[in-house]
This record gives sequence, structure tokens and C-alpha cells, in this order.
Amino acid sequence: MNVKVAPSILAGNFTQDAVDKVKSADMIHIDIMDGEFVPTKTVWADLVAELETDLPKDVHLMIMNPEEYVEEFIGAGADSISFHIEATDVPEAVIGLIQSKGVKAGIVINPETSVEKIMPFLEEVDFVLVMSVHPGKGGQSFIEKTLDKVKFIREKFPNLDIEIDGGIDEETAKLAVKAGVNILVSGTYIYSGDIEKKIRELRKPS
Ligand code: DX5
Ligand code: ZN
Repeated sequence: MNVKVAPSILAGNFTQDAVDKVKSADMIHIDIMDGEFVPTKTVWADLVAELETDLPKDVHLMIMNPEEYVEEFIGAGADSISFHIEATDVPEAVIGLIQSKGVKAGIVINPETSVEKIMPFLEEVDFVLVMSVHPGKGGQSFIEKTLDKVKFIREKFPNLDIEIDGGIDEETAKLAVKAGVNILVSGTYIYSGDIEKKIRELRKPS
């Protein structure tokens, strides 16, 4: 599988400049935090709409009750939307809402959540996002144990897009790709130093 790179513009303060600097990437990863599901609050749908890019906008919702808000993010031009299994009682409904508008739906799993929780939904989703840090902030260390989930999912779903998010640099990217990941989210690593070079480095393991 081709490895795709999704820079997390959280590490670039959600600016247009941060988007303009990653033109060679495959998509733009936009972290939405509500101050409730995670302690921090970030940007909302208006910012998703404002950012100008030819790349797909990959919106990661770290918010409670995503079923109430996904339509807002679809309206803002999201190309893919992922939500946390821990944040909703109605995951099927959220997947259905997202896909009914032709947007890709992804389900996210936290490091401490058992992979069994998401297995019933993997036939339906377009991708799965495995958190390799605790959600809420950038710059944390990669939790290697989360790769067991990646391997488990990859074995059962050879063609599913598996995204990983948190602590990804050139070393952890190699481990993740080896385990079965094909979409790498990366913030701190990409936005420090030579951005284009870092994007190339991340794609290397493929
Ligand atoms: C964490 C966010 C990540 C974060 C990744 O809650 O979902 O997307 O920006 O940042 P790094 O690559 O710095 O771990
Ligand atoms: Zn994210």
C-alpha cells in the first residue's frame, strides 16, 4: 500500500501558512478539540472552511457527541471526518451521516481502548485512526504498544486505510508502516526543520 502523509496543522498553529508549507503532502489533518472530550479547545468548522488548499481536508473530531456536529463539518468542506468511539453512543449513526454526504468516515480509537470496541464497525467505515498518543496535544511520545492494534486490524482488513496519529517521526513511521499503517499523521516532526524533506522521509518506508 502507498504511504500517505497528513501534516497536523495543530503544530503550525492552524494558519494558512502552515497549510501552504505542506503542498507535497497527501492531505491536511485538522484537529478539532472541544475542551470536554479532551481538556484543550482548538478550532471549529469555520476554520476548516477558511483554509485554502487543493489537498483533501482530513478532520479529526476530538469532541463529545459528534452526531450533533458532523453536518457542520461536512458543510465546511471536510473530505474525511473521523470521530472517537469513546465519544458517542451511536457510532453507526455518525458513520451513516458522514457517508450520506459522500464524505469518508473514520473511527478513532484511543490507546487505552480495546480494539474489540471498534471491530463491529470496520466493515462500514472508510478508514480507522489508531491514536498512538493520548489525544489532546501535540509533541507527545509514541506509544509503541498501540501497534498491536494496527497489526490486528491489518490482518483482518487487508485493504482498509489505517491512519496513525501521535509521535510520528521517521523512526516511529517505519514501525507503524511495518505494522500495517498507510496514512501517517505528523505534526511536531514535520513542522520543525526542512518540511519538504520531512514529508519525503516519512514516505520512505514505503
Ligand atoms: C493529538 C492530535 C494530533 C497531534 C499530533 O491529539 O490528534 O494530530 O497534532 O502531533 P504530533 O505529531 O506532534 O504528535
Ligand atoms: Zn489528530
